[in-house]
Amino acid sequence: MPGIIERYRERLPFASGDPVISLQEGSTPLILAERLSEKAGVEVWLKIEGANPTGSFKDRGMTCAVSAAVREGAEAVICASTGNTAASAAAYAARAGLRGAVIVPEGKIATGKLAQALIHGARVVALRGNFDEALRLVRELVHRHPISLVNSVNDFRIEGQKTAAFEIVEDLAGELDALCIPVGNAGNITSYWKGFQEILPPTHQPRMCGFQAAGAAPLVHGKPVEHPETVASAIRIGNPARWEEAMDAMTSSGGTVKAVTDAEILAAYRLLASAEGVFCEPASAASVAGLLTHGAGEGVRRVVCVLTGHGLKDPQTALEHAGAVVPCDPELSAIERAVLR
Ligand code: F0G
Repeated sequence: MPGIIERYRERLPFASGDPVISLQEGSTPLILAERLSEKAGVEVWLKIEGANPTGSFKDRGMTCAVSAAVREGAEAVICASTGNTAASAAAYAARAGLRGAVIVPEGKIATGKLAQALIHGARVVALRGNFDEALRLVRELVHRHPISLVNSVNDFRIEGQKTAAFEIVEDLAGELDALCIPVGNAGNITSYWKGFQEILPPTHQPRMCGFQAAGAAPLVHGKPVEHPETVASAIRIGNPARWEEAMDAMTSSGGTVKAVTDAEILAAYRLLASAEGVFCEPASAASVAGLLTHGAGEGVRRVVCVLTGHGLKDPQTALEHAGAVVPCDPELSAIERAVLR
C-alpha cells in the first residue's frame, strides 16, 4: 500500500507534483475482537494504529505536516509532545532532511518514544514543566522564528489523521454505530469526525465517544486541569488545543466524553494483551476502558475502538503490570518444574 497522501490524494490538500515525505503510513489493520465483544455485549473492532511506521497514529498527520513544510521551504520543524508526536516528527524530519526539535515534559515520556526521538537525530529538550506549558512556549517560539510547528494545531495534521476514518468506513462498508477514542490534546477525535463527515451521509455518522484519564479530564469537567496526572502519559494533558472541535464532534454526533480511572485503563490494557493478543500503550487502552465502563450508548451494535499507539513504546509500564519472570537452573528437572508448574 502507498502512504496516505498517495492513497487519498483527492481528499487531501496536495497536488500531484507536490513533494511527499512518506514512510508508507496508514492502511493499518482493523481486527474483530471476539472476547472483548462478548464482554462488552457489542461487536468490537480494533483499529491498530500502533502498526504505523513509528508505532502511532501521529504518522498519518506527520506525513502531511512535514510534506507541507517542505513545500513551503521550511528548514526545521518543532513540536511539543508527550512522546509520540516527538517520535513521529523526528522520523519524518530525518526522512525529509529537515532539522527537528521536540519539547517534552521532563521525566514524563515513555522510554521507547524518547529513544525514537533521539535516534532520529532530533534536538530533544526536556522541559521542567508539563505538556500544556510546552505547547504554549513552542507556539510563541514559532512566531519569532521560521520553524514549522507540527503539533495538531497545524491543520495538515488533522487532514492526514482523518484518513483513518476513511479506512474504517471502507473496511466496514460504512456500517459502524460508534467510535471509542482516547482524548488528549483533542486533535485525533477532531480528525476522525472530519473524516466521517466527509464520506458518510449525515444520517449515518457514528457516535463519537471520547475518553480521558480521570486525572487529566478537562473536557469532562468543563475546565482546564492545572496539574494533570495519569499512568497514560500520552494523554497527560490539562488544556487541549482542539477543545471546541472535540466538544462539537461529541455533541453533534450524539456521543459523550467520559473519564476512566488509571485502574480501568490498566485493566483494559492487560485484557487486550492477554485476551486479544494486542499490545497497545496505556493511553490507547482508554478507548476500551471507556467502552467497558461506560458503554457506547443505546442501540449501538458495532463499535470501533481506536488503539492509538504500540505497547512497546512504554516497556516500563508493561513490566510493572505484568507477571514475573521465572528464574531457573540449567537442569531438566528444574525446567520441568518451571514450565509445568
Ligand atoms: N493516544 C496516544 C498514544 C497519544 O500519543 C495521544 C496524543 C493520544 C492518544 C491523544 O490524541 O492528543 O489527538 O487527543 N499524543 C500527543 C503527543 C499529545 O504529543 O504525542 P490527541
